[in-house]
Amino acid sequence: MARVPTGIPGFDELIEGGFIENDVILLTGGPGAGKSTFGSQYLYSGITDYNEPGVYITFEETPARIMRNMWRHGWDMERLRKENKLRIIRADPIAYGRYIKRTMDDDDSGDHENATLETVLKQIYASIKEIGAKRLFIDSLTSLKISPNPVNVRHIILEFIKNVESFDCTTLITSEISKDPEDFSVEEYLAEGVICLKVFRIGGERIRSLEILKMRGVKHDEVLRPYVITDKGIFVYSSDSVIGKEADVFSLQRSSILGE
Ligand SMILES: Nc1ncnc2c1ncn2[C@@H]1O[C@H](COP(=O)(O)OP(=O)(O)O)[C@@H](O)[C@H]1O
Ligand SMILES: [Mg+2]
Repeated sequence: MARVPTGIPGFDELIEGGFIENDVILLTGGPGAGKSTFGSQYLYSGITDYNEPGVYITFEETPARIMRNMWRHGWDMERLRKENKLRIIRADPIAYGRYIKRTMDDDDSGDHENATLETVLKQIYASIKEIGAKRLFIDSLTSLKISPNPVNVRHIILEFIKNVESFDCTTLITSEISKDPEDFSVEEYLAEGVICLKVFRIGGERIRSLEILKMRGVKHDEVLRPYVITDKGIFVYSSDSVIGKEADVFSLQRSSILGE
């Protein structure tokens, strides 16, 4: 099976060299965990190291802001855009707002909802075809979860992932982490792989750790690995473990709860 290296130093050796081609992988984590950085690095490295064009779909940040942030890591997204190797698409928030309004109305037949989701998917597919993209990054799935009706949310996510799976791109989709770690959401079952970015604190020190929860068909690493975000992007310490440090965190929490 063809593999797609992420190009993120230290990460690929955790998954036998890279994602399986055309898989849909979920990247979860709280705010500031490094999801957008991870995805940008995946696209940037894909273009510059592997000559694979990429599409970046953003539901939240503007393309200008993304390019500014990535410039901090020395990634010239603007140049890649001009060379037609990268597309940064802001999925239409206005059309999507209309869509949400419809999904909140239970009497609605559902035709309009599907029409708007279809528009977003068509927009993504068109950009992929335009530049012959092999890699797709979608930031984030959480933006599709505005409906208060969990059945609707499930339907939207299911439809969305099912369609993206047919795009012939190796796809990374971000999702904000759930408050309850036991509460797995539908996308975690649907995706071929789930990577979890966790940030915790010991005293004044911030510890970033990465765990591969699943990667179907891959003999993947199961240890909690530390990673850092630097001026050059994300770096994973593939032979270190944060288990010892995590134990410190638990004992710290325990002592603060018990007042020890
Ligand atoms: N040059 C840098 N050096 C160190 N850390 C950085 C640098 N640039 C960004 N960061 C860290 O990365 C975080 C942003 O990561 P981001 O990918 O936007 O997270 P997410 O998308 O998960 O919210 C910042 O909050 C900051 O902690
Ligand atoms: Mg982000």
